[in-house]
Amino acid sequence: MRAPFVTFEGPEGGGKSTQVARLARALGAQGLRCQITREPGGTKLADQLRKILLSRSTKDLSAQTELLLMLAARADHVSNLIRPSLEDGITVICDRFVDSSVAYQGAGRGLDPALIRQLNDFATGGLVPDLTLLLDVPVELGLERAARTSRPDRFEGQALDFHNRLRQAFRELAKAEPGRVRVLDASQGEEVVASQVLQTVQSFLATRKA
Ligand code: TYD
Repeated sequence: MRAPFVTFEGPEGGGKSTQVARLARALGAQGLRCQITREPGGTKLADQLRKILLSRSTKDLSAQTELLLMLAARADHVSNLIRPSLEDGITVICDRFVDSSVAYQGAGRGLDPALIRQLNDFATGGLVPDLTLLLDVPVELGLERAARTSRPDRFEGQALDFHNRLRQAFRELAKAEPGRVRVLDASQGEEVVASQVLQTVQSFLATRKA
């Protein structure tokens, strides 16, 4: 059996990257081999695409082009980092994956979610996370937190309405797939969220072994 594939999802400012790092440290301390990564990115090619996708100087990117660049980055990431790691017995913890495309390019940009899923299936060869932690946070709070650490990127700079639509889409995804997607309230403090993340992942790992 391949190693577990765990993803983090959610609107801006939910503290995903901090929680990804904390989870990897906690699992590593228990002797589990982990690889942390993020999307868009994770490989040299995908990191180059990330720069284009996030830069505010990228103008006139249609929703279709944006989706296809995300998918090109994902295809490279899956075949050169995620799958080889999983097959090597290494647990992969990824900051954003397919659900972000459904939320951002679907609910956010207005592309057809069924088409997004179909194209993602092609890009990933059908790879689906075993467990997804949705760090849910009210949009205003998340954007305010994100703005404290850096200048808004091309996505963070979108209107509030865009962010509200994608938050809603993430919550709907969780309702549709309660077995895979677990919602955590990321407006709580970092320590509280970190212990809820660890608890959720450990009980998932225990049922997987059973
Ligand atoms: P990042 O700085 O990693 O944002 P965050 O810390 O909020 O995860 O930037 C990634 C951005 O890319 C984020 O705004 C969401 C967006 N994105 C998509 O629009 N579609 C996707 O499929 C993925 C993976 C990310």
